[in-house]
Amino acid sequence: MSMIAQTIATAPFADQRPGTSGLRRKVERFRERHYLENFVQALLDTIAVPPGAALVLGGDGRYFNREAIQVVLRMAAANGVERMLVGRDGLLSTPAASHIIRERRLHGGIILSASHNPGGPDGDFGIKYNTDNGGPAPDQLTQEIAARAAAISAFRVLATPDVPLDRVGAHSLGRMEVHVIDPVTEYAELMERIFDFGALRELLGGGSFRMRFDAMHAVTGPYAREILERRLGAPPGTVINGEPSPDFGGGHPDPNLTYAPELVSIMSGEDAPDFGAASDGDGDRNMILGRRFFVNPSDSLAILAANSVLVPRYAGGLTGIARSMPTSRAADRVARHLGIECHETPTGWKYFSNLLDAGMVTLCGEESFGTGSDHVREKDGLWAVLFWLAIIARRSLSVERIVRDHWAEFGRDVYMRHDYEGLPAEPGAALVADLRKALPSLAGTHLVGREIAFADDFSYTDPVDGNVVAHQGIRIVFNDESRIVFRLSGTGTEGATLRVYLESYEPDRTRHHLEAGDVLAPLVRAAHDLSRLRERTGREEPTVVT
Ligand code: G1P
Ligand code: ZN
Repeated sequence: MSMIAQTIATAPFADQRPGTSGLRRKVERFRERHYLENFVQALLDTIAVPPGAALVLGGDGRYFNREAIQVVLRMAAANGVERMLVGRDGLLSTPAASHIIRERRLHGGIILSASHNPGGPDGDFGIKYNTDNGGPAPDQLTQEIAARAAAISAFRVLATPDVPLDRVGAHSLGRMEVHVIDPVTEYAELMERIFDFGALRELLGGGSFRMRFDAMHAVTGPYAREILERRLGAPPGTVINGEPSPDFGGGHPDPNLTYAPELVSIMSGEDAPDFGAASDGDGDRNMILGRRFFVNPSDSLAILAANSVLVPRYAGGLTGIARSMPTSRAADRVARHLGIECHETPTGWKYFSNLLDAGMVTLCGEESFGTGSDHVREKDGLWAVLFWLAIIARRSLSVERIVRDHWAEFGRDVYMRHDYEGLPAEPGAALVADLRKALPSLAGTHLVGREIAFADDFSYTDPVDGNVVAHQGIRIVFNDESRIVFRLSGTGTEGATLRVYLESYEPDRTRHHLEAGDVLAPLVRAAHDLSRLRERTGREEPTVVT
């Protein structure tokens, strides 16, 4: 087929600067004439796919996914990309995309997702780029894309009909080959190489252990069904909300106690299963629940690390651990115990890439329900679920027992995150700016009966490439190891979201049963006093507590 690429004049949009994880905006914005095209052209110009190289493309199935996939295909073809792999029906989870890039040595991948943000016509859409190591575009590349988008004057596209994506097979689009691939198989095979599927099959198919996996009508449904129900023999019905839908069944595909009410109610019922888990829109996050028990994500990272010898891939030991700065220091204690380093990075998975590529860390995690390892360069929801199941299979203990035993051994890092969503942008920014100004005078002062040991604005020097990233969050650390962190979200699409991270260390096991909310109440007061949150934002209470 010969087809002529059209060059269409356009003008830049002022807001095409990606945030913590790609460009995320309202669907409405993305549907504005040329909005998506501009960004895709800027991306293609910047990544300059060499002859013979290929990209992978897929998304979390949210509203506008289908249309956007076709636009990206037509533009890639017009821009001389020779080969494009697309997940069937335009679906690919973020960790699966990362794996495919690595496994097939692709130039990179384009993932259409706004992760855990709500979908549907009034919801959010997003686009992110991953490089040839399978990881999110690093800061510098992201800045180049943004700069290109800010100066764009034309884009190239083929005037061709849609490529059918509903069946595995090959098509041509101009001179580009489009390979529609099965989104699940390669990922499932990777999981089989990491875990002992025989042991997992005994646990899940044995009849006495029961679990529920809530796919939240997002992308992990097909993956979870294939792995948990088909390959591991868990009874049908183990996966709930397993059909991906463009508006996530009207829900908010964010696996936490607020947005996964169905799973939470199943796991707190009289006849609750032994294990519950959920994943987010694009399959990289995870929430782990026991019977009437919530596992804090920071604890989860520490527990996976402490039990890593139980999983074949990690049996030889971990080279190191990494956690984002606001994540609790529970993992640091395990690292110390194992005699390895725990690296503290800025928020966002991209900062783990260099450490993983250099072989300096094996496991990494964030308090925001993200855990992963060097098997891919993204966090991985189902992987975390299988890791937990592997621990349970080997130790034959309940989720709650595993967590309590961990606290008894290492002490408990009591942890909570308070989100104040949808603040007007200005007071949110001013609150953080004023805290930053106050930092030099804070050390040595007292708040809620504790002395501030140090206070700073977190800055990170990447140990591999020496890059420095500043202003990554205000840290207030007290002399009893308790800590408050303030930072503004880089993924929201409406106004500002202020995140306040609260934690304190409790070595005394007779106090481990206390509610996090009670233990941390004085720190919440301190956070309010320090930031004058109420006065500035009019908010008494956080929107979401995790
Ligand atoms: C949030 C999380 C962060 C995570 C990111 C992408 O970013 O806090 O840990 O990496 O989503 O899933 P934020 O909105 O805080 O910038
Ligand atoms: Zn996600």
